[in-house]
Amino acid sequence: MTTLAILTAAGSGTRLGRDLPKALVELHGFPLVLHAARRLAASGAVDSIVVTAPDGLVGVMADLMAGDPHVGIPVRVTDGGPTRQASVAAGLALARSEDDVVLVHDAARPLVPPELVQRVVSAVRSGHGAVVPGLPVTDTVKQVRPDGDAELVTGTPDRSMLRAVQTPQGFARALLVRAHHTGAERAAAEHLAATDDAGLVEALGEPVHIVPGDAAAFKITTERDLWLASLVLQETTA
Ligand code: CTP
Ligand code: MG
Repeated sequence: MTTLAILTAAGSGTRLGRDLPKALVELHGFPLVLHAARRLAASGAVDSIVVTAPDGLVGVMADLMAGDPHVGIPVRVTDGGPTRQASVAAGLALARSEDDVVLVHDAARPLVPPELVQRVVSAVRSGHGAVVPGLPVTDTVKQVRPDGDAELVTGTPDRSMLRAVQTPQGFARALLVRAHHTGAERAAAEHLAATDDAGLVEALGEPVHIVPGDAAAFKITTERDLWLASLVLQETTA
């Protein structure tokens, strides 16, 4: 049996504000999506990758992957959709019957440690249907609602019971297929769509387990994150 990784890379990167999609923005000379693919492959726990590409860029992504000597496992590329959820569904449609485990990883997390990938796959293979890496939350988090020109605090959840979750998230393929199928009507619009795949599994009422995340798997959203990633790489390759 095999593990497929869906590598989501079809977003536009609005908050980064470059003139090209975020997954193609370079970090130390290589696009974010390539960093992520190399690390998925380096884990030794992933057998093949499906990349979701932005509009009109399937060929560009495919050339990028095919020309890289470090990926070394089969990579297929498909068109993404209007939301992350739709993109994952498009990738999932290419899963094969032998892919009993499916990971979903964001190209926006290019520095994911291979050990984290292994940890997630192991937890799924040990019998958990849905596994998510999570870290303790260090900020106190407030729940709010709009109140005139400000926001009113409606609650303060107990921080010790909160986790900030990352990718890769790992699933038994049949469970992830069922979760996307059941949640399919949410995929078309950003305000309805699930921001992670575990959320779709939770909506089924099925259990989702957390394994320890890793700070290095942080998400690149803004220029500051890109700068931080560059510092981290400098530090680890020095
Ligand atoms: N993604 C995707 N398809 C979409 C939207 C997002 O495959 N329609 C992917 C992104 O490429 C990214 C991951 O989902 O790897 C997480 O999304 P996010 O960080 O929000 O990236 P963007 O949507 O590109 O950024 P922004 O929200 O700032 O536009
Ligand atoms: Mg987005």
